[in-house]
Amino acid sequence: MLTLVEEAFVPLRQAVSALPAYVPGARAGAGAPMWKLSSNENPYSPLPSVLAAITRAAAEVNRYPDMYAEELVGALAAHSGVAVENVVVGNGSVALLSHVLNAVVEHGDEIVFPWRSFEAYPIAAAVSGGNAVTVPLEEGTGRLDLPAMAAAITPRTRVVLVCSPNNPTGPAVHAGELETFLAAVPKDVLVVLDEAYLEFVRDPEAPDGIDVFRRNPNVMLLRTLSKAHGLAGLRVGYAIAEPRLAAGIRAVSTPFGVSHVAQAAALASLEPATQSQLMAQVEALVGERTRVVEGLRGQGWVLAETQANFVWFDLGEQTLERAAEAKAAGVLVRPFAGHGIRVSIGDPEANDAFLKVAASWR
Ligand SMILES: Cc1ncc(COP(=O)(O)O)c(C=O)c1O
Repeated sequence: MLTLVEEAFVPLRQAVSALPAYVPGARAGAGAPMWKLSSNENPYSPLPSVLAAITRAAAEVNRYPDMYAEELVGALAAHSGVAVENVVVGNGSVALLSHVLNAVVEHGDEIVFPWRSFEAYPIAAAVSGGNAVTVPLEEGTGRLDLPAMAAAITPRTRVVLVCSPNNPTGPAVHAGELETFLAAVPKDVLVVLDEAYLEFVRDPEAPDGIDVFRRNPNVMLLRTLSKAHGLAGLRVGYAIAEPRLAAGIRAVSTPFGVSHVAQAAALASLEPATQSQLMAQVEALVGERTRVVEGLRGQGWVLAETQANFVWFDLGEQTLERAAEAKAAGVLVRPFAGHGIRVSIGDPEANDAFLKVAASWR
């Protein structure tokens, strides 16, 4: 008979016991109206053609998916203007981030990234066995401090993460500063340009990621269908990398990591007619972003310049209290205790509700 020995737990790796928890954006509950502006999601439900593809694929889930998602990889390569050898798909771009770190980081190697930035970075870095080296954002602007990030590189550095636009503050890096930064990075150090919010960028000085990738084989792009394409719930991200690195990512990926339904939905969303409807939605969201930012400036807020589908409030110690007030008013936002609040751009009704909350915060 099996007896439970209370003290004999299998120990976790030290790096894992010390991991900060990934805090997901709050979810809307039943009852009172709740506008969910806490997870940088696309507020619009899937388009009919995408829903139809999901329904068709659902009838086939007794079969494993295409392991390397060949058709989807082909469509993403064509969409991005790169070769199929350059594209790897994963269970959200967050999975690809872990895969690439697992593929290149040796125990004790350094991974440089900005902070505050995407909260998955410290977790993925720790799990890979690397040492996180965080570089503070530029004071007051919420922008990445690329010269300081270049200065943080040592002979132990294996990877640098560049989040553009930066989650949760919003600004995009500029082509010129990125160029100067890349010139300072040794060619055997991987630079991951995380472009999760690419489609929302309207800053004319933002870099063209594909062009940067073509000219720098040590640059890899991370992109996702979770945001502009509205497929967050299905988990499809992709990496664009030089073929050897792409093969390394595939080698460490979870087999069959992108489901058949997710592949079908992603393919449908890349169809030209669907694509143009999706980009019209993105344009509407960018219009809403402008309206929200102007409304907030009218209320007297001084904000970081967002190029993503969210705005950032540097509220310091008031953060949790303000988030609770927003929740009481039916608006779920994403607080980062002691630092600030990130609020996603939603549909016009949600944004109006949030503008009222922001006015009450002042
Ligand atoms: C900067 C950044 N990168 C990556 C992701 C992950 O996206 P995915 O849903 O593709 O895993 C997010 C999601 O919030 C993000 O903000």
